[in-house]
Amino acid sequence: MQKNSNIDLLVNEIKAILTKGIFNNRLFFNEPLKRHTTFGVGGPSDIYAIVENIDELLILCNLAKKYKTEVLIIGMGSNLLISDKGFRGIVIRLSGDFDNIELTGTSTVRVGCGVSLNKLISFARINKLSGMEFAIDIPGTVGGAVKTNAGAYEFAMSDFITNVTVLNSNDDVIEYMPEFEYRYSSIKDNEIILFVEYHLNKSSTKEINRNEKEIKQKRRSLQPKGRSAGCVFKNSYGFSAGKLLDETGCKKLCVGDAIVSEKHANFIINNGNASANDIYILVKKMKKNVFDKKKINLETEINIVGFDDEL
Ligand code: EPU
Repeated sequence: MQKNSNIDLLVNEIKAILTKGIFNNRLFFNEPLKRHTTFGVGGPSDIYAIVENIDELLILCNLAKKYKTEVLIIGMGSNLLISDKGFRGIVIRLSGDFDNIELTGTSTVRVGCGVSLNKLISFARINKLSGMEFAIDIPGTVGGAVKTNAGAYEFAMSDFITNVTVLNSNDDVIEYMPEFEYRYSSIKDNEIILFVEYHLNKSSTKEINRNEKEIKQKRRSLQPKGRSAGCVFKNSYGFSAGKLLDETGCKKLCVGDAIVSEKHANFIINNGNASANDIYILVKKMKKNVFDKKKINLETEINIVGFDDEL
């Protein structure tokens, strides 16, 4: 794809910042995003930055504004399908200050948005705090999980959140309690989640270990291994999307190395060298299949970035 001149100017200004020693070894140009998504697909990002504090974040956000380019915050890339063309602009992974967890009360924790769910669960276990076990082994970060109100086994992130700190589009850091619904939060797309406060339940190591074991077993028995992005579609109209996809014969579908899992029809697996386009075409086929046979319009749960046509 032809780069526009704004991107070139942005890249030049960022390269000049590098010479001042800021972002030491944490800025990359033309970084293949397939290295950063669980599907293992996605073209290059003009700039990929690992950001460790709010000052660095503001530098990049202000440069993006100056050159009218996009910013995409990614976590572990587990709910994400990025096109083979990649991303024109800056992709940011929040780390450093945003990878910390702090006990703020007997049952409250303040967690950076770049913290992995398993790290949070492990911190909670050590402090005998229960609640988050439902999310064990979901390969995501707190930021991504809160934005999408990730959930499993009757629980969701929102059951334990007391407030969220974001950076808004005016560069103000604000704290509030968003509204949450099934796989939805009212956190705006132009707000960057920084920290999340959770209220957990006092428990015992024995009880927490038991919960974790049970969830792991359930997940293993019902969900496939392999390179996926979790469930592709949201459940809707009181139906499980996986069940609908299965009943309409989607498990037979594949495009190149992108295949619908035999174990769970709401999972697409990259079985080798699938391209983002293979996966995208397969998502369309699954959606069409359910619409043609059941007249239900499934809504995608995964975040799809950089495709020109509508699903
Ligand atoms: N089913 C089938 N065939 C399939 C898949 C499922 O018949 O191919 C049936 C199952 O036998 C079961 C029902 O559909 O009777 C529901 O399946 P499951 O228990 O796997 O739950 P789900 O509704 O498909 C949801 C979440 C999962 C979460 C599980 C467990 C969504 C879209 N999915 O799946 O979340 O882990 O419940 O709570 O809400 C995700 O968000 O990425 C995700 C994987």
